[in-house]
Amino acid sequence: MSAAAQAFIPAAAPVHKRRLSRLEIAFAARRNVLELIPAISYRQPIVTGEVLRRWHMLADPAGYKRVLLDNLANYPKSEIMRRMLRPAIGESLFNADGPEWKWQRQAVAPVFTHRNVVALAPAMSATAARATQRLASGGRIELVAQMLTATFDVICDVALSGREHFDAAAFSHAITRYFQTAGHTSLLDFLGLPEWFPRPGELIAGAAVRTMHGMVAQAIEARRRETSSPADDLLDHMLAAEDPETGRRMSPEDLIYNMQFFIVAGHETTALAISWALYLLANSPEHQQRARAETRAQLNGKVAEAGDLAAMPFINQVLEEAMRLYPPVGLLARHVVARDELCGRTINPNDILFLPIWALHRHELLWQKPELFDPERFAPGTMRDRYQYLPFGAGPRVCVGANFAMMQAGIILSTLIQNFRFRPAQPSPKPVMTMTVRPDPGIFLVVEKLA
Ligand code: HEM
Repeated sequence: MSAAAQAFIPAAAPVHKRRLSRLEIAFAARRNVLELIPAISYRQPIVTGEVLRRWHMLADPAGYKRVLLDNLANYPKSEIMRRMLRPAIGESLFNADGPEWKWQRQAVAPVFTHRNVVALAPAMSATAARATQRLASGGRIELVAQMLTATFDVICDVALSGREHFDAAAFSHAITRYFQTAGHTSLLDFLGLPEWFPRPGELIAGAAVRTMHGMVAQAIEARRRETSSPADDLLDHMLAAEDPETGRRMSPEDLIYNMQFFIVAGHETTALAISWALYLLANSPEHQQRARAETRAQLNGKVAEAGDLAAMPFINQVLEEAMRLYPPVGLLARHVVARDELCGRTINPNDILFLPIWALHRHELLWQKPELFDPERFAPGTMRDRYQYLPFGAGPRVCVGANFAMMQAGIILSTLIQNFRFRPAQPSPKPVMTMTVRPDPGIFLVVEKLA
């Protein structure tokens, strides 16, 4: 890596060097989940503490393999996280466990096979073309909002074959409101108050959830009324899905919850990955130049398509490195069922196990100069432990949309880099995690259309 490129240290999360009090932890959890990760989590494989309940933060590849693969049944999703998501997504695929999870996963998996995702790529290319038109006037632009619009278009196409039943602005406003209220891990959960006690965030978020569910329900109803042949989109697969063991079909509620999750998860995370990549390239002109040269050689002025991506490895390296530094899902939490051992530490039933993917990706024992933006880490052929880099999780619960996300991000990023020069328009934003790792106050860049 050149000296100029080395000079750029991207924005990191605030790290507390001393132990926080119980109250400070509760407030930090509401403000920015990343602040909960103690400084030693970036240097040690496991850190243990106690706030009413014993908790552990794991940042060790072998430990992740045990939790996400080898001893998966011992580590179901944490009740705190599930409770936070339940009003919006119920017991749908992401939140369910055991047989309830398995049949839903089998129902949607066919939509995301490589062959099917390639078939969806034209919708992604069309969106990349529209994003190019929207940025064409140039100037100072906030990129997260732009990328959210782009990826929302694609997921509406894939999930519902179009967006005619959606007021995109109203839906995206409701998502943001939901993330900013219920999305903040509740102070009351940390203080261990019982489940029936009303959480203020949940009350405010209720209205946002009703808005979103109403729109999804309308779109499902419209599909049911349609008499034409199936659209073969995600909704059709869910309408047709049947549990092979029990013959169970998805209830109207199951459908709403699953569609809700796909629409939110399917676009928010990918938009953040592209936005953070643009922020990094804007601040690293040499890397931006290299990415542009690669896209120009391959695309020659046209919009990127699925078949172009293999010939643009550097674009992929940039996206991987952006998700190392800013994993859109920066922290997961699991419940402990039975006694186990991780990194030589005893893990007891009912402990909370945090999986700070954010810290794993910036761990001093695993990465050289982890604070630097260096896409060379992901150069083809570079070896690393499968469990040291986990933007999409791993094991049976690995992200079902990973192929889809990478294709969409590659098509949009390469098309934009070919056509525009990006420069920073403000000091680095702050990474803040409520449910996803978002830049605060956004990613403002000066965008210049190139000939
Ligand atoms: C850059 C984009 C994305 C990132 C970083 C991401 C990240 C993740 C992670 C870390 C998990 C595992 C959660 C856990 O183990 O607790 C997950 C699960 C999931 N993701 Fe994604 N995701 C992305 C895009 C998508 C897209 C585009 C879709 C669908 C269109 C999607 C649908 C899902 C679903 C349904 C699950 C639950 C799978 C299961 O539990 O079986 N994700 N995602």
